[in-house]
Amino acid sequence: MKFSKILSSLMAMNGLVQAHPGEDHTAELALRHEYFKRNAGNLAHCAPKLRSTGVTARSVSRRSATVQGLRKKRGLTTKRGEYQVDSGYTIDTDPTVLFSSNSSCALAPEEVVGPYYVEGERIRSDLVEDQQGIPLALDIQFVDSSTCSPIEGAYIDIWSCNSTGVYGGVVARRNGDGTGDPSNLYNSWLRGVQKTDDDGVVQFSTLFPGHYEGRTIHIHTMAHLNARRLSNGTLFDTVAAYVGQIYFDQDLNNRTNNYWPYTSNTQSVTLNDDDGILQADLKAGGNPYAEYSLLGDSLEDGILAWITFGINVTNSETVTPVATYHPALSTGFGN
Ligand SMILES: *[C@@H]1O[C@H](CO)[C@@H](O)[C@H](O)[C@H]1NC(C)=O
Ligand SMILES: *[C@@H]1O[C@H](CO)[C@@H](O)[C@H](O)[C@H]1NC(C)=O
Ligand SMILES: *[C@@H]1O[C@H](CO)[C@@H](O)[C@H](O)[C@H]1NC(C)=O
Ligand SMILES: *[C@@H]1O[C@H](CO)[C@@H](O)[C@H](O)[C@H]1NC(C)=O
Ligand SMILES: *[C@@H]1O[C@H](CO)[C@@H](O)[C@H](O)[C@H]1NC(C)=O
Repeated sequence: MKFSKILSSLMAMNGLVQAHPGEDHTAELALRHEYFKRNAGNLAHCAPKLRSTGVTARSVSRRSATVQGLRKKRGLTTKRGEYQVDSGYTIDTDPTVLFSSNSSCALAPEEVVGPYYVEGERIRSDLVEDQQGIPLALDIQFVDSSTCSPIEGAYIDIWSCNSTGVYGGVVARRNGDGTGDPSNLYNSWLRGVQKTDDDGVVQFSTLFPGHYEGRTIHIHTMAHLNARRLSNGTLFDTVAAYVGQIYFDQDLNNRTNNYWPYTSNTQSVTLNDDDGILQADLKAGGNPYAEYSLLGDSLEDGILAWITFGINVTNSETVTPVATYHPALSTGFGN
C-alpha cells in the first residue's frame, strides 16, 4: 500500500482530519518516521556528477546573476550583508564557493503536506501581491537522487504564511488570528507554481514567512512530475513525487522578528529545535535548511535563498488540498 494511502486511512481512523484542522501531526509523524527509515540517505554521491555535467557551475552563475540583478532592480549600492552565519561564510567568501555550496543538498525525506495546501494556483514567479515583509528570492533545484540528473519539466508548488503568520486562501480557526475570516478564502498571495528548467531549477519572488502557533518558520514545497498546466495558466494535480518544507537557520528567523510587520505577529514562536516536523526530517538524514545571502546591508533589502532537493522520482503520493483557488468567486474580495 502506498504511503499516502496508509496515511490517509490512519488519519481518517483517528478522526485527525476533521478534529484537528490545525497542526496535530502526531500520527502522520509516526508514519513519516517509519518511511524515513527506509528512504533517507545522503546526496553526496551526486556532487561529482553535478560538477562534471556543469550543473554546479551554472548554479554559481545563476545565483550570482540573480543577486546582481535584484540589487540593480532595487537600486542597492551599499555593500552586501553577512552570509549564512551557520556555514561560516563571510562577505569575503568567493562567490564560486558560496553559490556552489552543496550543504543544502541532501536526499530529501518526505514531509507532511499540512492543512493549508490549495490546488489550482497560478503558474507565476512573483507571489507577493499586496503583502508586506522582507523580500525573499528563492532558487530551488530538484535532482533525481538515483541518477543524479536534474529533474526538468516538473511543476513545483510552494506556499507559505504571511509575515504575521496567516495563510491566504484558507479559512480555518487555527489559521492565524482564529477568526476564520471568510474573505481570506479568495486570497492567493504567497502561493504559486513554476516549471523546472533544464537544470531542475525554479525561482520565485516571495516574502520571508512569519511564524504561527506550533511551527517554526517554513515554506511548503511540492513536486508534480507528470502534471499539465491548464490553458488559463493554473495547475490542478493532486499527485506529488515529493512533499517537503524549506527552513532557515534560527539566527535568521530570530532577526526577521525584529522587523515590521513581523513584530506585530502575536502568535507564539516555536524554535527550530522544538519543531517536531523539522526535527524528524533532520533525524532521518535530511537537511532542509536553505543557504542564503543578504542582498544589501539590511535584511529589509531582501534575501536570496537556495536549496537543492534530491528526490525519489518513482515515489508518488496523492495529496488532499484543503481548498481550490477560484478567482471567479473573489469579486469584491481583492485578488
Ligand atoms: C522510491 O520510491 C518507491 C515508491 O514509493 C519505493 O518503492 C523505493 O523503495 C524508493 N527508493 C528509494 C531509494 O528510497
Ligand atoms: C560537498 O562538497 C564537498 C567538496 O566540495 C564534498 O567533500 C562533500 O562530500 C559534498 N557533500 C555533499 C553532501 O554533497
Ligand atoms: C496576513 O493575512 C491576514 C489575512 O488576510 C491579514 O489579516 C493580515 O493583515 C496579513 N498580515 C499583513 C502583515 O498584512
Ligand atoms: C533565538 O531566540 C530565542 C528566544 O526567542 C533564543 O532562545 C535563541 O537562543 C535565539 N537563537 C539564536 C540562534 O539567535
Ligand atoms: C482555470 O480553469 C479551471 C478549469 O476551468 C477553473 O476551475 C479555474 O477556476 C480557473 N482558474 C483561474 C485562476 O482562472
